[in-house]
Amino acid sequence: VPTGNKAASASAPVVFIAGTDTGVGKTLLTALLLCWLRETGVNALAVKLFSSGGTGDARLLQSLQPRWLQLDEIAPYRYRLPLAPAVAAECEGHEVSCESATRHIQKMRARCQLLLVEGCGGLLTPLGRNYSFLELIQIIGGHTIVVAPNRLGAINQVMLAVRVLQLQTKGSRSLAVALMNVQRARNPAVRTNAKVLSQLLRVNVETIRHFTAGTQSRRRFAILSKILQKTLAGLLPSDTVCPLR
Ligand SMILES: Nc1ncnc2c1ncn2[C@@H]1O[C@H](COP(=O)(O)OP(=O)(O)OP(=O)(O)O)[C@@H](O)[C@H]1O
Ligand SMILES: [Mg+2]
Repeated sequence: VPTGNKAASASAPVVFIAGTDTGVGKTLLTALLLCWLRETGVNALAVKLFSSGGTGDARLLQSLQPRWLQLDEIAPYRYRLPLAPAVAAECEGHEVSCESATRHIQKMRARCQLLLVEGCGGLLTPLGRNYSFLELIQIIGGHTIVVAPNRLGAINQVMLAVRVLQLQTKGSRSLAVALMNVQRARNPAVRTNAKVLSQLLRVNVETIRHFTAGTQSRRRFAILSKILQKTLAGLLPSDTVCPLR
């Protein structure tokens, strides 16, 4: 299998893109990170393990990756109903075990230099009978980016997610926070959230500026990610990215 311009490693770092909720900007951030890493010569791949209610995210991520990567590799577990995966699984009759999900992550990380894994819904959204994205992070280990919409209420939402991660994941507790400026308006909360959160949590907090709606082409993501490269670098652990360049 061709793996891009740099060799794959058996233990490539995994970066989990976790959300405080659904619709908060996880896919947008994953796409930006993916394009930026690939443009800088890092053989990064991105997967959206679980999807429900459509394959839009998976198709977008597929359009930004090498052609040999199949939809079943990027988004292996797809449900028709717009429900939490565990709930959709009950309705549609095909549950995915935690072992299968972790096996797929391990398989994909062996084919790249850095694997981005987008969550489904929020951090604790049930993916199967007894696990959520949190359990996948616990089992696989790696860096987590908590994505939240930058608005009034974000401080509480981000703190809940980060505190759970800090309490439940032993070892590195390597994480960062991405605040997405989902609205153009810059109210007092939008202007102050990042500073408050970084002081309270002592983790790196980056703000992703608001983008006007437009085409979601590879070219556009490449341009946007270049503009945002310092911000994107701040979300990744320096020791995993720098040695790869
Ligand atoms: N920085 C931003 N500028 C403009 N729009 C944004 C920004 N961040 C997020 N959005 C908007 O928020 C919406 C949801 O984004 P996205 O699909 O990335 O969320 P998600 O967390 O991946 O959702 P899902 O739970 O469905 O996977 C999109 O319409 C996107 O354009
Ligand atoms: Mg998404």
